[in-house]
Amino acid sequence: MGKVVVFDHPLMSQKLSIIRDEKTGTKDFRQTINEIGTLMTYEITRDMETIEIDVKTPCGIAKCKQIKKEVVIVPILRAGLGMVEGIHVLVPTAKVGHVGLYRNEKTLQPVEYYVKLPSCITDANVLVVDPMLATGGSAIHAISALKKRNVKNINFIGIVGAPEGVKALQEAHPDVNIYLAALDEKLNEKGYIVPGLGDCGDRLFGTK
Ligand code: PRP
Ligand code: URA
Repeated sequence: MGKVVVFDHPLMSQKLSIIRDEKTGTKDFRQTINEIGTLMTYEITRDMETIEIDVKTPCGIAKCKQIKKEVVIVPILRAGLGMVEGIHVLVPTAKVGHVGLYRNEKTLQPVEYYVKLPSCITDANVLVVDPMLATGGSAIHAISALKKRNVKNINFIGIVGAPEGVKALQEAHPDVNIYLAALDEKLNEKGYIVPGLGDCGDRLFGTK
């Protein structure tokens, strides 16, 4: 069974208060989403398998460690894009795949419009990223799309989750680790997270 981790770190809490604030504008919202992405990456990579290597220093040989498998970031479009730069701060060599989905406003079901993945993804440490885990439909669909293409080591990285989404994702993909910066109260009648932060894609890209 994959684990569910909700980080409780003063820096993340402080940054969450910025993105939740309805008065925060696009520039600060985008910057802070990326900063949370960086902080979450620092914590999540703790769990990654390492290999020992010998490094020749000016004074001898040092036993060092490197992350064993390549890291691939898969943002769920659009809002997942907001975290990619922040993850690249700590893992600059990570390749990026894209899964394009939007929620049908009435049914809340995800509609797929784009999938493009790097060929190394099947054995990589894969980070599926989307700041919002609401009903869970988008994350479930994106992860199923990866599994159909033989992708194996999948982690889901969100920022704000609803209990409904966590439960649905765990049931659909029990092997996937779920990492969040906050677990909120519930969904409202329109499928938005309460208290949440509103429409993340619109706030990131200024489309409302
Ligand atoms: C939002 C968000 C997630 C999805 C979460 O995307 O970025 O992808 O909703 O909701 P769910 O857990 O109920 O599926 P949206 O459909 O608004 O598309 P956008 O990112 O292009 O704005
Ligand atoms: N998508 C968002 O952007 N926000 C929510 O609260 C739910 C889904």
